Amino acid sequence: MLAWTAFALGFVAPTGAKLPPAAEHQVDFARELKPLFEASCVNCHGKGKNKGSFSLETRQSFLKGGESGLAAVSGKSDDSLVVRLVAGSDPENVMPKKGTKWTPQQVGLLRAWIDQGMLWDSHISFAKPEPANLKPRAVALPSGPEGHPIDRLLAPFFRAKGIAPSPVVEDRIFARRAFLDTIGLLPSHQQLDEFLMDKSAAKRTTLVQRLLSDRRGYADHWLTFWNDLLRNDYRGTGFIDGGRSQISGWLYSSLIENKHYDRFVAELINPGMESQGFTRGIIWRGTVNASMLPPMQAAQNLAQVFMGVNLKCASCHDSFINDWTLADSYGLAAIYSDETLEMVHCDKPTGKFARMSFLYPQLGALDEKVPKAERLKQLEKVVTSPANGRIARTIVNRLWARLLGRGIVEPLDDMEKPAWNSDLLDWLAEDLVENDYDLKHTIELILTSRAYQLPAVEATPSNQGYQFRGPLTRRLTAEQFADAISELTDQWARMPATIEFDFTAGDLLGPVRMPTWIWTIEPVEVGTTRAHAQFDKREAEAAAKRAAEAAKKQQEQKQAAPEKKPAEAKPKEEDKPSSAKVEVKPWDRHKVAFRKIIILDKPAQAYAAVAASQGFSLFVNDKQAGRVLSDGQRSGRIAVFDVRPLMVAGANTFALEVTSHTEKGGLTEPELETYRASQNHLNTVSGVAFYLRAWSAAGEVIEVTSDEGWQVRRAPEDGWRKSDFDAKGWLPVIKLPAGLMPIDEGPALQPIRRKDYANEAIELGPTLRAAVSTAIQPGRIRAALLAADPLMTALDRPNREQVITSRSMASTTLQALELTNGSALDNRLKRSARTMAEAAAKDPAAWVDRIYLQLLGRKPGEAERQVALEALGQPVNAEGVADFMWALLMLPEFQLIN
Ligand code: HEC
Ligand code: HEC
Repeated sequence: MLAWTAFALGFVAPTGAKLPPAAEHQVDFARELKPLFEASCVNCHGKGKNKGSFSLETRQSFLKGGESGLAAVSGKSDDSLVVRLVAGSDPENVMPKKGTKWTPQQVGLLRAWIDQGMLWDSHISFAKPEPANLKPRAVALPSGPEGHPIDRLLAPFFRAKGIAPSPVVEDRIFARRAFLDTIGLLPSHQQLDEFLMDKSAAKRTTLVQRLLSDRRGYADHWLTFWNDLLRNDYRGTGFIDGGRSQISGWLYSSLIENKHYDRFVAELINPGMESQGFTRGIIWRGTVNASMLPPMQAAQNLAQVFMGVNLKCASCHDSFINDWTLADSYGLAAIYSDETLEMVHCDKPTGKFARMSFLYPQLGALDEKVPKAERLKQLEKVVTSPANGRIARTIVNRLWARLLGRGIVEPLDDMEKPAWNSDLLDWLAEDLVENDYDLKHTIELILTSRAYQLPAVEATPSNQGYQFRGPLTRRLTAEQFADAISELTDQWARMPATIEFDFTAGDLLGPVRMPTWIWTIEPVEVGTTRAHAQFDKREAEAAAKRAAEAAKKQQEQKQAAPEKKPAEAKPKEEDKPSSAKVEVKPWDRHKVAFRKIIILDKPAQAYAAVAASQGFSLFVNDKQAGRVLSDGQRSGRIAVFDVRPLMVAGANTFALEVTSHTEKGGLTEPELETYRASQNHLNTVSGVAFYLRAWSAAGEVIEVTSDEGWQVRRAPEDGWRKSDFDAKGWLPVIKLPAGLMPIDEGPALQPIRRKDYANEAIELGPTLRAAVSTAIQPGRIRAALLAADPLMTALDRPNREQVITSRSMASTTLQALELTNGSALDNRLKRSARTMAEAAAKDPAAWVDRIYLQLLGRKPGEAERQVALEALGQPVNAEGVADFMWALLMLPEFQLIN
């Protein structure tokens, strides 16, 4: 209740005289008052908002008034609260509360309108309009000649705008676009030739279909797009201390399988272990704003990526740039929160708690009372339901923007904005749904349209007055640029940045013999007893040795200085072996050793993958093998090794040393009492799995896996890793029963001190498959699967702490400088130039032609060839080769997709 209630109740004499006079004409609400309300009141009393409980969305709500009662009395404008407020009768209480005050003429209009009975055209409302692009809408293709649906939809648009579309681009340009947009690589010059020579009428469609059926190429390329969108990366903030997890394995397999988009979204919204990294976000260390807590990240990210809704500004206060409110953000976040969420306005807790709701309640209700797992199921249903026409529109718009340089709706993350052609947008969306959310279908559709094949158009600096005339000129992504260099120099990474990719997805690598999990039947006590015995034996030997040395020394001293009488040398107390005092390190006691001798020729390549329930080391011929990859942010339960350097022709001894049990330190007495399980690793199933693949120089493959042919011993004798060790008394291993496998509960941290992924149990089974597949994949690892390097960063590969929905078309000055003057590209080229110079020296002119064809899809002109040959040097040298390649890579003809 406010001071002005006094007016309304008449305690202060109505001061009608002070009010501006009412206008004398018949007021036209639509023309005269509506614009006034819109300009100065609606932001606080319309579009769902009702400050002071007063809403003027409809005549009804206007008449109802607010906290202080009626806002207006028909026929009595001088007695109406709203008039006093806009007239500023009480300087303490003036409306609009913010913005320009009303003029006396405007107040007069309001007065006249009230006096005339408050006529309000019934179709006028200041309510939140029905959100755009939300409900699905079926669009019939325009009648007329048969043809590509996209072009039929665009024909009326071109006619209306008076645009005569240009002829489509030549084959060479089309092929370059099609290769880059499907598999991300430039066509080789053989591939290009083959396409140019093809005389069939349908060859463009055939090419697109063939490229899209290259499942690995497709996954390698589109991984970049999705990593940006789902802010997935392989290293960076959060990974080191377990405050973040990847979805790389899930994502890559989903792309290889071309998972239907509705399933894909469902698995991200209501995730399993493998895909939870997206909605769980990043657990930032240190003080963080309430808007950065994981449930708020989940809300922001899923709203942005799948629904094209930007909640960023509405996560600290009601947004000033759109209609989303703090309550909307918290409503969505609450679904992901384990606790009730108090809303925090900027930095101030509001004391109000979030009411769970989805952005568009009209799509389906959520039950606040059910547990989180149930809520996520409901949310998944609502988002992927056919009634939600937004997810299909959002993704087809993203694909269109990726392939043609600009969306049908812009910005891509504000899908309530109008489309420049809603028939096109809505038809593409419906078509995606009809085709089971198959994204490859939509990509094929777009790439085979004339619209895609039109000549490229330069982007205008501002989006004002945009008219579609053809694809915008795009630049190569960082990954496409880097891959082009790998292709050119034929130097590829052997291993990806993470051990999580499953390269066997889609059966792309053929049959793989997965190793069985093995362990020992010897009980822990055996290890303990044996370790003690061995400790005693070692101590006794050491003591005897020391005694012998002391005696020898005494002898020598006696001879050197016979007159001095030394104290009688007797073995010190601790030199005596004594079982009672023996202290065996847990490491010895819990060491379980596995051995296998494998006879084979020295391989050309050999990689092993090992997974174990606890810490482990791999030895080959008594030398420790180095890890080339492991599950870094956890504790290295799974690793890939390059074992070729340690192998010999003939018998090779593979030895695995696994810990069977680890004690966690650092717990206080009360903690030990409360969290008994935290004293030890929670892993109740022990086991180890080993896989080796060796390739002969001729390409023959040999697989060796852990099986019953291995031998095992707890607390093994010294020298057990050597090839000539006699494993007498060792037992055959036992296989773990089918389906039983170790579970790793995370690094050796105290579970109770962390409330994040660091201590989450992970099934080692699926991860083992990924590790084995990583050991055996054939190399040629693409840039999308590698960590960012300075070159890629210079080419705008983002750090993926935030969702990135499009990369910039133009390079920033800083990026351009790094590319031209920095060392990133230079170093990369210098590394390859030496071997390339050898090839170039054989026939420099032919070599130059080949490089031109590879990078630009054409031969050099005569002048270009001369310049190139000069650059290569006389005789051809590595520096010249690097310079020449650098110059070609700087050409817009290479860097841009025209
Ligand atoms: C910037 C936000 C804002 C704008 C713009 C605004 N108001 Fe208000 N209005 C409020 C707030 C907040 C209250 C509650 C009282 C207070 O806090 O002063 C209120 C209260 C009122 C009330 C009294 C409700 C009651 O019953 O207590 C009326 C009537 C009203 N406004 C009318 C208007 C009109 C008409 C306009 C446009 C000329 C307008 N307001 C513009 C924020 C706004
Ligand atoms: C991390 C929290 C946070 C986020 C996210 C945020 N803001 Fe703010 N914003 C604030 C704070 C704090 C204030 C000052 C609060 C105040 O004065 O009440 C503020 C104030 C503002 C104001 C001035 C309001 C006034 O009444 O004068 C505008 C305009 C604004 N923000 C716009 C935005 C936009 C646009 C975005 C999204 C791009 C955004 N904010 C995102 C915290 C945030």
